[in-house]
Amino acid sequence: MEESQPSRPEFWDTRYAAGQTPWDFGGVPRRLHEFLQAHPAGGTVLIPGCGFGHELTAFAAAGWRATAVDFSRTAVEQARTRLGAPHAERVMHGDFFHHDFADAPFDLIYERTFFCALPPAQRTVLVQRAAHLLKPGDTLAGFFYYGTEPGGPPYALDPAAEPALFRPHFVTVRDEPVADSPPMFAGKERWQERRRS
Ligand SMILES: C[S@@+](CC[C@H](N)C(=O)[O-])C[C@H]1O[C@@H](n2cnc3c(N)ncnc32)[C@H](O)[C@@H]1O
Repeated sequence: MEESQPSRPEFWDTRYAAGQTPWDFGGVPRRLHEFLQAHPAGGTVLIPGCGFGHELTAFAAAGWRATAVDFSRTAVEQARTRLGAPHAERVMHGDFFHHDFADAPFDLIYERTFFCALPPAQRTVLVQRAAHLLKPGDTLAGFFYYGTEPGGPPYALDPAAEPALFRPHFVTVRDEPVADSPPMFAGKERWQERRRS
């Protein structure tokens, strides 16, 4: 059934409409606040698969020009309503893989539970697309979900597969455990920063 595939927006529309969003942090993770304090110069940032887009306001408050995108129309409607003006207009309805982003290439792509929402077969293309949306020296940073269990979403990234996936385009410059993950990700998320090579 098409509706049951996480690579389709309808899969996510159904969950947002039903209020079933166990991945939602409900705010801004502590490690992102620390990252923003450490990067006061700001820049342009893309938040792919943004869901409710809580982080957009944190980036904007820290002086960044943020673009959020989600292909679920229901998620985008709920994000725009929650965020209000002027942030709502920075939430695009579109597909990360195909949307024509006005601000591209970005200085930063911020990841949280988008990567693990996609079936593993899409990962290589996802990393290629992220690399395409950044310039050499720019950063892919955020929360990555690790494990070896099969199935999903969330689809865990096997630590053994991680180097080969990112090495063609990125160098990992920071890798830390995360203390404030929601229950479904507890102990399995890592904050990572990767530089576009
Ligand atoms: C698990 S949710 C995470 C939402 C948000 N990042 C958060 O941390 O709460 C995954 C999101 O990715 C979106 N998504 C999945 N594939 C996408 C794609 N190709 N383009 C844009 N959004 C996508 C889904 O609609 C969903 O809102």
